[in-house]
Amino acid sequence: MAKQKRLVPDARPFMKWAGGKTQLLREFSRRFPSEMKKGKITNYVEPFVGGGAVFFYLNQRFSFEHCYICDANEELILSYRVIKKSVKKLINELEALESEYISKNDKKREAFFYEVRGSFNERKTEINFQKYQMDWIERAAQIIFLNRTCYNGLFRVNRKGEFNVPFGRYKNPEILNEDNLNDVATLLKTTQIILGDFTKCRRLINKKTFIYLDPPYRPLSETASFTNYSKNGFTDNDQIRLAKFYQDLDAIGAKVMLSNSDPRNENPSDTFFDDLYSNYRIERVPAKRIINCNGARRGEINELIITNYRLTKT
Ligand SMILES: C[S@@+](CC[C@H](N)C(=O)[O-])C[C@H]1O[C@@H](n2cnc3c(N)ncnc32)[C@H](O)[C@@H]1O
Repeated sequence: MAKQKRLVPDARPFMKWAGGKTQLLREFSRRFPSEMKKGKITNYVEPFVGGGAVFFYLNQRFSFEHCYICDANEELILSYRVIKKSVKKLINELEALESEYISKNDKKREAFFYEVRGSFNERKTEINFQKYQMDWIERAAQIIFLNRTCYNGLFRVNRKGEFNVPFGRYKNPEILNEDNLNDVATLLKTTQIILGDFTKCRRLINKKTFIYLDPPYRPLSETASFTNYSKNGFTDNDQIRLAKFYQDLDAIGAKVMLSNSDPRNENPSDTFFDDLYSNYRIERVPAKRIINCNGARRGEINELIITNYRLTKT
């Protein structure tokens, strides 16, 4: 039977990403600037795009003239660029990985996972992350495969930048979702993809910009800093740097929304973000979150949403 072609793309994050915002979209959607609904925002910028939950959500509801996504994680940005440029070849690579994986029993699947992980780590030094190369396609397929089959679906690297998440025993992991990758590719056609620090986005901002900032969480406790997306981490100094960036964007006249975990969840007297963003609107909304490394303690905690514009009730 012929496959029905969908007219409206329905792109969703193609990787599970620590700190992914899918569960908060409803809270966010009430707080997007009213100017966006009136078509007065023509520029969208997301400097910490991660899995892209907010980027996908917004781009299917609003049409922007310019759209930019950025992240400091080179493997993630490589994957976005491969989807944009070579989605068909990527699908073929993933199809091959998927059929090899599902043809095996549990024990052999585990061995296959470690084989792919080993080759992925070994070849890191050969990859030129700055300039598109054919070997990016195989690498993007490996990244998606590892993300889909590893424990908890995290992307985590050690100090040497090696992917170090162990095998996850899923019965039927979804390794290839062809429709979604095609939809993602469609949205990326009109999106510019930037690798690097969030400050690289500064030159893209004007009055007609909406910018959503979702930096790495400030660890809730000393032992909770398990979301190592990159080998260098994001320190309190980076959070301070980001608050200055926020002020700069505000001064330009852009509409800015930032989210972060609330340190007061653990320590009620920790006013780090309240102090940094005292000139702006700070709201606390409930969110579910894994709060320690083995995922055993999950609970409802507050997420901060900080905006520099007036909210209209919806
Ligand atoms: C909380 S996650 C974003 C999650 C995303 N909103 C989602 O829904 O999946 C934070 C992201 O910031 C990226 N990052 C870390 N340091 C950065 C920096 N200095 N500049 C830009 N991105 C950075 C990480 O690689 C990670 O993808």
